[in-house]
Amino acid sequence: MQESIIIRLETEKDFRAVEELTREAFWNVYKPGADEHYYLHEMRNHPDFLPELDFVLELDGRIVASILFTRAWLEDEEGQRKEIVSCGPLCVHPAFQRRKLGKRLIRHAFGAAREMGYDVNVNFGNPGNYVTSGFVSCRKKDVSCFAWGNYPTALLVAELVPGALDGRRWLYIPSTAADCCEDTAAVAAFDATFPPKEKAWAPSQEEFYIYSHSSVVR
Ligand SMILES: CC(C)(COP(=O)(O)OP(=O)(O)OC[C@H]1O[C@@H](n2cnc3c(N)ncnc32)[C@H](O)[C@@H]1OP(=O)(O)O)[C@@H](O)C(=O)NCCC(=O)NCCS
Repeated sequence: MQESIIIRLETEKDFRAVEELTREAFWNVYKPGADEHYYLHEMRNHPDFLPELDFVLELDGRIVASILFTRAWLEDEEGQRKEIVSCGPLCVHPAFQRRKLGKRLIRHAFGAAREMGYDVNVNFGNPGNYVTSGFVSCRKKDVSCFAWGNYPTALLVAELVPGALDGRRWLYIPSTAADCCEDTAAVAAFDATFPPKEKAWAPSQEEFYIYSHSSVVR
């Protein structure tokens, strides 16, 4: 029987289910446990959150994937700012990963972002999940982060409109939405409202440590 796949905007009724899904998908992937479910819980109230790009993917009536965005900025050497989008958290339920559902959500959300007038997305992520969706190293588009000339390996750029970045040097200015996760007591208190789950080490944590603590130099 053919599966039915629907991509639609998230509604308030979906909030808890999407938080559960996000917790499940991120658990132990980047750190023992996860804080991404708290992040999205908080980001929906942040001024940089873009509700027009808050999508869920339903497979046979069940939400199995989600993508959210905040606005972010690129600043050129003259201090001129360009508003862009930054995707994340993006997740697919572990039982349904590696079936191109993540790619499908990205493609859909990028189309909607383009219709809103955005032409660039920049986010941190594991390159292996993104390069087949047109993301390139920030080095290739001269997008620095933290300091001019610093090109983190995990910082990825997708032009929603080809050629949108016109050869200038840029500094990436992320939203402050993720700062909420620095409050580890709040993260733990929120996580305690979900069923207990064991925190553990996983090799993907070391992989992401390498990506997020290294830079592209040439
Ligand atoms: C990352 C994630 C969203 C990707 O979604 P997905 O539906 O599993 O991925 P897709 O099937 O769309 O595949 C996307 C790309 O990942 C890579 N990929 C897919 N299967 C892979 C595998 N078995 N091994 C290595 N890379 C693989 C490929 O490059 C693939 O593109 P391709 O099919 O054109 O070759 C999902 O795995 C997930 O939720 N992971 C946990 C949370 C997370 O890490 N989120 C992203 C934050 S950086």
